[in-house]
Amino acid sequence: MKLLVTGGSGQLGRAIVRLGSDQHQIVAPGSVELDVTSARAVRSAISETRPDLVIHAGAMTDVDGCERDPITAYRINGLGTQNLAAATWSAGIPLLYVSTNFVFEGELDRAYLEFDAPRPISVYGASKLAGEHAVAALNPQHYIVRTAMVYDETGRNFVNSMLRLASEHPKLTIVNDQSGNPTYAGDLALGILLLIEQPAFGTYHLTNAGTASWYEWAVRIFELSGLDIPVEPIPASQFKRAATPPANGAMQNMAAASLGIELPDWQDALRRCLQRRIEQAG
Ligand SMILES: NC(=O)c1ccc[n+]([C@@H]2O[C@H](COP(=O)([O-])OP(=O)(O)OC[C@H]3O[C@@H](n4cnc5c(N)ncnc54)[C@H](OP(=O)(O)O)[C@@H]3O)[C@@H](O)[C@H]2O)c1
Repeated sequence: MKLLVTGGSGQLGRAIVRLGSDQHQIVAPGSVELDVTSARAVRSAISETRPDLVIHAGAMTDVDGCERDPITAYRINGLGTQNLAAATWSAGIPLLYVSTNFVFEGELDRAYLEFDAPRPISVYGASKLAGEHAVAALNPQHYIVRTAMVYDETGRNFVNSMLRLASEHPKLTIVNDQSGNPTYAGDLALGILLLIEQPAFGTYHLTNAGTASWYEWAVRIFELSGLDIPVEPIPASQFKRAATPPANGAMQNMAAASLGIELPDWQDALRRCLQRRIEQAG
């Protein structure tokens, strides 16, 4: 297939290019080459590239930044996605939109299923949900893929932040009453590449299996990296930030599993990512 991937310079965009290019012809512009907030630029990119399918991985992902600048968040995550939904519908091609566990409130006492009602408590979550609504309303050939806590070897993510903070501080305090499914961009990319082989349009939860709090995730990062740094668990109420992540951000993959698509356990994924990070550094 020929794929157009928005957000090609991001963690997921790069992973899709890295893992999908043997099988697919992939065009993956960053925001400078394709700014999704311009309806005209989106239409031109589709008419010039003539893709068989678009993967919309581009987004304003700075969750606290979205809270401080809701207009920009809605412009990129809501309107940008609406532009892609309308343009892919006119071109008669499917759209895969990458969304987030932040669409959920986080108060359930079990992992969220694809069919649970979204109720975002942050601007980021609300703007991504606006994107989901646009996709569902405008292009019936759509996949909405919700994921969470995405990290890669490089880029701005929790794993790299923890490793940097560990080299700068003698001890760390990390939030222990918010949890979700840490997800390696490489595993998510492979899941998405499997999903688009099937015309099984709908809403999916694709994350690595298993749940962790930010504290549990940090502790495992340090254990697997051989770093002996004291980490103190704290409640979210003691960590000041602009946005509030869902307390229970865990999602269950019911829909993709029924197609035979399941991602490995998060600890296995983290081990592989840290190994690749060492190989790349050496
Ligand atoms: N990261 C997470 O923890 C997480 C969790 C749940 C869901 N998701 C979703 O997963 C998807 C991929 O996230 P990621 O981790 O790969 O994010 P990322 O590394 O922050 O990359 C975001 C990408 O979006 C691009 N972008 C920003 N504004 C844009 C615009 N106006 N037009 C086109 N592209 C624009 C960026 O381009 P430039 O670099 O050129 O600005 C970058 O390529 C996103 O839809 C995100 O909402 C992420």
